[in-house]
Amino acid sequence: MVSRRTFLRLFSLATLISLASLIGIPLSYRRRSRVLLEERIYGGVEYSVKGSLVYLPMPSLDGDTSVERALANRRSIREYTDAPITLHELSQILWAAYGVTETRYGFKTTPSAGATYPLEVYAVIGRNGVATPEGGFMEPGSYKYDPYSHTLRIVKKGDLIRDLYESALEQEWILEAPVNLVFTAVFERTTKRYGKRGERYVWIEVGHASQNVYLQATAMGLATVAIGAFYDDRIKMIIGASENERVLYMMTLARPSKAYELQEESLYIYITNNRESLKAKE
Ligand SMILES: Cc1cc2nc3c(=O)[nH]c(=O)nc-3n(C[C@H](O)[C@H](O)[C@H](O)COP(=O)(O)O)c2cc1C
Repeated sequence: MVSRRTFLRLFSLATLISLASLIGIPLSYRRRSRVLLEERIYGGVEYSVKGSLVYLPMPSLDGDTSVERALANRRSIREYTDAPITLHELSQILWAAYGVTETRYGFKTTPSAGATYPLEVYAVIGRNGVATPEGGFMEPGSYKYDPYSHTLRIVKKGDLIRDLYESALEQEWILEAPVNLVFTAVFERTTKRYGKRGERYVWIEVGHASQNVYLQATAMGLATVAIGAFYDDRIKMIIGASENERVLYMMTLARPSKAYELQEESLYIYITNNRESLKAKE
């Protein structure tokens, strides 16, 4: 027979174990299965460079910031530290911009009219701009993102950031960012289905992709600003885009000097004051 004391001890141990299985074990199980998956796919190698191809680390599907908080804290940020961004961060941002979220047809993070996906994404990486897991840096240059294999392919080598800056009205933040994203589009993918109206759909889609970058950057504590003021053809030449692509939009990617955070109280006061003046007008 077990004594009452031993029974109580065993009982509390059992309670602890079942609590742990409720919170701890599923989490570590999830982490473990991700590692196993990575080992199966990559043979344990997180990322690799093979010739002109960069196999990016897998994107994470979980984060610590809610969508609401990312929306509240999203701001165009133009002042940066000198620190590089990491390859993991770049991988995550590219996936957020235009990565695959459905594995039957290859649908993506952005909605797309008729799933025609006209956009292409380039990452223009400056010297010492992107830190690799083994302590080095990615080769500077213009890289094109392939969402389907989650890889980058180098299109043009060399530090092209100053050229981008000069072709975008010398906006300082472009020069100071370790990475600049450039969105281009092959309009025909969408216009051959929707005619002239398809052009509108392409412009709308790049807005979706850009907002994804803003929110993902905010959630990760990174900084970005959308850039619409530039000479299209000069940027196209600098990044080495194909003849059938048109440059639509750019975004910086950097570490902010100071992150923005919306205080709930200030929003409350702002809305309340506006309600007061609305009431006064009635
Ligand atoms: C289509 C578009 C083009 C923009 N072009 C530039 C630009 O060339 N340079 C820049 O510094 N900001 C640019 N911005 C960012 C806006 O200045 C910014 O969104 C606006 O001031 C509101 O600030 P917020 O993004 O922090 O809310 C652009 C934004 C949009 C939507």
